Amino acid sequence: MTGFRRDAQDSAVLGSMRLSQVVREAEVELPAYVYDVDGMTETLRSLRHGFGDAPHLVAYAIKANSAGTIVRAFAAEGAGIDAVSGAELELALSCGVPETQVVMSGVAKTDAEIDLALFKGILAIQAESVEELQRISARIQATGRRADVSLRVNPGIEIDSHAHIATGHDAAKFGISESDLSAAYALIDGSEGRLSQVGVSVHLGSMMTSTEAYASSARKLCDLARERRPAAPKLKYVDFGGGFGIDYGSAPSVPPSDFAHTCVRTLRDAGLSDLMIVVEPGRSLVAPYGVLVARIVQTKRSAERRWVMINAGMNDLIRPALYAAKHRVELCDSSPQEPEWRVVGPVCESSDDFGAHPLGSDPQGLVAIRDAGAYGYVMASEYNGRALPSEVFIKGGKIASISRSPGKAAWLERRLGA
Ligand code: LLP
Repeated sequence: MTGFRRDAQDSAVLGSMRLSQVVREAEVELPAYVYDVDGMTETLRSLRHGFGDAPHLVAYAIKANSAGTIVRAFAAEGAGIDAVSGAELELALSCGVPETQVVMSGVAKTDAEIDLALFKGILAIQAESVEELQRISARIQATGRRADVSLRVNPGIEIDSHAHIATGHDAAKFGISESDLSAAYALIDGSEGRLSQVGVSVHLGSMMTSTEAYASSARKLCDLARERRPAAPKLKYVDFGGGFGIDYGSAPSVPPSDFAHTCVRTLRDAGLSDLMIVVEPGRSLVAPYGVLVARIVQTKRSAERRWVMINAGMNDLIRPALYAAKHRVELCDSSPQEPEWRVVGPVCESSDDFGAHPLGSDPQGLVAIRDAGAYGYVMASEYNGRALPSEVFIKGGKIASISRSPGKAAWLERRLGA
């Protein structure tokens, strides 16, 4: 059984292992991220199943969780990667993802990153501006290579999500606006075949819990692909982006496979079924299958308040502080029970606060911060001289690998040398 659940004794279980047992067996320092890798690969499989016979590529947005164990597991299931830096690109290739299944996004790719993409021969560099296309052109001249590009379009569609994670609206720095597309086409068409357009792409932003906005952006993208196709004979894919939401406990989300159905239907209606569908999900594949396990350090009560202080902070999981995100916090050894306590971390900032959670009359021991498999470890920092968290990977009901915290010694040494 995959995912987070409670067993008959009320203990928190992830990937068929009790979290308290994972902590004991792994002998890791806390806080530690614990991941259910099988849950992740099952979700990937069901997403892929949703495409039926349609040619498709799931380009996992590796930024969501770049752990090698996860990337290798996805590569073994046929996934590709959406990378946004040279380092992510190298990691993907080192984990066995074929270069022809890697796309590279990002608004400020450096010349060195463009060169890396050119030399590795990836599926496409997804250009986000006409100016970037000009720089890709210059790198082609300088290196003597040729480039396959996709144009990431900004469709001017606002989604109902946190402002920090909406990317498809007019004011966002992402993508080429429709009014600039003709300049982009002219550049490609004037390149004498050294620049080929192989795709059109879009990414509206994150946490879409239904498919409406995704569908309307997909229709727009298909219209653009259809118009452009006669002049772009190498066009082979449309990339509808990622952004599939998950249920963090307060609002349900449609499953990733619903987004797959939307892609297949839209492409078919546009008469483009021979093109390959690319999607770039990150969060939906990994978030529900990761928890951050921390230890309660102490409680604190005043006349009308109750706090639980834990040994994980905003440096370990920044989403609540950065996006006002709510992650369920539960005791590992018993189910949620009133009263509620304000769960806070050790970092010296008022925003180091995970919100109010029902932890019972006498909270002690371990807590699990749920749905932390995406944008958790990858956004962690050493703020306040805190060590980066550990990571434990469960596969087949057993601990498959452990990445231990570098500890405070690593921080001390670097800061002393600075
Ligand atoms: N493709 C592109 C071009 C992206 O920029 C992103 C995410 C994705 C795909 C994957 O989106 P997803 O399926 O994971 O929603 N740190 C924030 C999320 C930032 C997303 C950045 N881009 C958070 O914790 O909610």
